[in-house]
Amino acid sequence: MERAILFVSNNSKKMLGKLGMISKNYIAWDVQESDFPGGISTEDQLRFLLRYAILAPSGPNNQPWKFAINTSTISVYADLRRSLPFVDPSNRTLYTSIGCALANLLIAGEHFGFNYKLDFFPNGLESNLVADVKFKKSGTTVGEDLFPQITRRFTVKDNYLEKDLDELVLQDLQDFIDVPRFYLYYMTDPASKSAISDLVSRAHRIQLADKDFRRNLGDWLRTNWTTEPDGMPLYTFGVPDPVSLGFPAAFREFDLSKVVVYRDSGLIHGCAALAVFSSDADDKLAWVRSGILLENFFLKATKYDIRLSFFSQPIGHPLLREELTTMIQKGYPQLLFSLGYSESKRHTPRRNVDDVLLEESS
Ligand SMILES: Cc1cc2nc3c(=O)[nH]c(=O)nc-3n(C[C@H](O)[C@H](O)[C@H](O)COP(=O)(O)O)c2cc1C
Repeated sequence: MERAILFVSNNSKKMLGKLGMISKNYIAWDVQESDFPGGISTEDQLRFLLRYAILAPSGPNNQPWKFAINTSTISVYADLRRSLPFVDPSNRTLYTSIGCALANLLIAGEHFGFNYKLDFFPNGLESNLVADVKFKKSGTTVGEDLFPQITRRFTVKDNYLEKDLDELVLQDLQDFIDVPRFYLYYMTDPASKSAISDLVSRAHRIQLADKDFRRNLGDWLRTNWTTEPDGMPLYTFGVPDPVSLGFPAAFREFDLSKVVVYRDSGLIHGCAALAVFSSDADDKLAWVRSGILLENFFLKATKYDIRLSFFSQPIGHPLLREELTTMIQKGYPQLLFSLGYSESKRHTPRRNVDDVLLEESS
């Protein structure tokens, strides 16, 4: 029942939401532009913007963000209680994910007629305060409006449709995030795909042999009937409902690298294109900015009905990351993903704004 409901139109979803029929952990997706609280206080409007920030992608859907609203400023914090010390010891993925949420926040803000001043790490890189965003009503929208893509976006974790990507579209996506000190490389030839598949396979073999790594990642796997507000339901990987029941425990306990390597090799060889996103710097600020660019790229791709699938494993391993660095020859690799077309997928759970809003907000 729940599954059927999540594929229905926005209007029906609104009605079902009102009837309390959408499972609580998916209700965040039931956000309607027409509910923007026009004419009330700026704080209420900023709170509404957060409903779009929380729909951002995050590593294992750990949603590692917190927000505070103070008059016309939204402060964005890293929620380090949601870090994965064995999978993401540097917190690179965590800060990249926060960048994705920031991107959604800025895109939603502009859509509803705000311009903004963005101040990164105002208390220094050691502070959990990632950014202050001061909003001001402007009434004019700057640049391309990616807002409608926020609720359409989803990550693909199984096979794409067999459909080629247009080179002009790939070029347009690349031009869209053309900013100094950040680089995007495409790989479409079979030799590069083989090299990446080999890198990802070796990463899986090393990482999944490590019990701490498995347990850390396994903690974020969810059954297909999950009522948790976070984590990765196994339907996203194409795992059938009954199998999903025992899978998280099996993943934590046993080295399933053979199955995972087989699966990912197929996905990599079968995709239309791979991409590596890299940057000149490799610190928290570079990771957050990578996340902002990634989400802009992701939403622009969504506009073309192109979806992404991530392979973060080699980037999380120092030696394999070095190999990838040599392959792309420019910058520190921050993200490795494939692109392709896909049929519509069910969304993943989200926490609600109440769950991520800090008390101090006035
Ligand atoms: C920085 C980053 C790294 C990610 N790495 C992986 C990955 O290595 N493997 C994977 O299956 N998904 C990865 N994802 C996708 C997330 O699992 C996905 O965004 C999350 O489960 C929420 O689902 P959604 O994007 O469909 O909303 C990554 C996402 C982000 C933002």
